[in-house]
Amino acid sequence: MNEEFAFAKLRAKLFDCELPSPLVLASGPRSFNAASLLEAYKAGAGAVVTKTIRSTLPDNPTPHLIKPSSKGSQNTLFNAEEWSDISWEQWVYQEIPLLEDHPGALIVSVGHTAQDIEKFVEPLVACKTVDMIECVSYSGDSIIPLITAIRSKTDLPILAKLSFNWGSELFSIAGEALNAGCDGFTAIDSIGPALYIDIETGSPMLASEGGKGWISGAAIKPLALSVVAELKKRFNKPVVGTGGVFSAEDIIEMTMAGADAVGVCSAPILYGNEWFSKTLHKLDRWLVEFEYTSLEEIIGYALPKLYTNQISNGLEFNFDPLLCTLCRRCVEVCPYNAREISGIMPRERNIQMSLIEEICRSCGLCSSVCKPKSLTSKIIQ
Ligand SMILES: Cc1cc2nc3c(=O)[nH]c(=O)nc-3n(C[C@H](O)[C@H](O)[C@H](O)COP(=O)(O)O)c2cc1C
Repeated sequence: MNEEFAFAKLRAKLFDCELPSPLVLASGPRSFNAASLLEAYKAGAGAVVTKTIRSTLPDNPTPHLIKPSSKGSQNTLFNAEEWSDISWEQWVYQEIPLLEDHPGALIVSVGHTAQDIEKFVEPLVACKTVDMIECVSYSGDSIIPLITAIRSKTDLPILAKLSFNWGSELFSIAGEALNAGCDGFTAIDSIGPALYIDIETGSPMLASEGGKGWISGAAIKPLALSVVAELKKRFNKPVVGTGGVFSAEDIIEMTMAGADAVGVCSAPILYGNEWFSKTLHKLDRWLVEFEYTSLEEIIGYALPKLYTNQISNGLEFNFDPLLCTLCRRCVEVCPYNAREISGIMPRERNIQMSLIEEICRSCGLCSSVCKPKSLTSKIIQ
């Protein structure tokens, strides 16, 4: 890793590997070959995951990766990109050897079935420079035999990459994956199938069958967080929390949910590899500001709070008229018309906020939309 980004507070650990930063470049277009992986390490990634290697080459539709332009799709990507378009032979004999002196961890992604990897698993795990294997598959039925096949050939740590698409079976598959010999998880993969339509032409945005593709980025972060927290609680194994991370605050949130390291794919696609260094600087400053000595200290910090049954007796609101901008969002969003506000700017002219308590359901929406934090609420216990 570039010395400039070697922040002591941000060091992370995945199995026995010391990572110079908690950021893991997730499998995707920015991990397409050795040169692109080296670029990510140089920019500040503590670990990198190769694009998924299979025994056959993909046939990607054109186009297969777009940034939806619709309002509300900020920091979201839509793709129908398949696995690596570089052969396993090229990975094993040319690309991976180029990563010999890599500064963090090298995670090789393989998929999608046990049969797929038969030809190359042995030469792959014999590469001294590989630190971990990540198994990815489209279904729970195929990821378990895939893990079993790899475990029979190596003692390297294995991460099972989990998909939110597996619904309620996700956690039983995760348990089976551990029984099959995996050591931790990457959660989550992009989600789909989804569809975007260009309303000027009526055509699908992607050229895949039915225009279907996979969503990644900001839209999936809350789903990723919930899976990471649940995995940590149930199994207490290392987790690379992946999905929708774009800012230092997102990294903190993912870490507090239980992630030991944080995977990113869409952010460096949309903002370039410079994103790593910029975000690590911000993360370091955040830790200083909130007086944490390391990021490691806050792994799983939110978990005890997530799983305690809070008994609530409503919300207690606090209103600071000096912070209010009279934007009226609190009034607009109340479905029950329970909130009223009156007054004129400047603020000193006595802004009045009131609540009709008999019709308020204590949902909390009014205070959550208040940007200047003039209206705040806390749970009455
Ligand atoms: C264009 C694109 C290609 C991807 N290719 C792969 C892949 O080959 N193998 C894989 O396991 N995940 C792949 N992913 C999923 C990412 O590794 C990651 O799990 C997902 O995008 C969520 O992270 P993000 O929100 O930071 O992008 C791909 C994602 C995108 C956007």
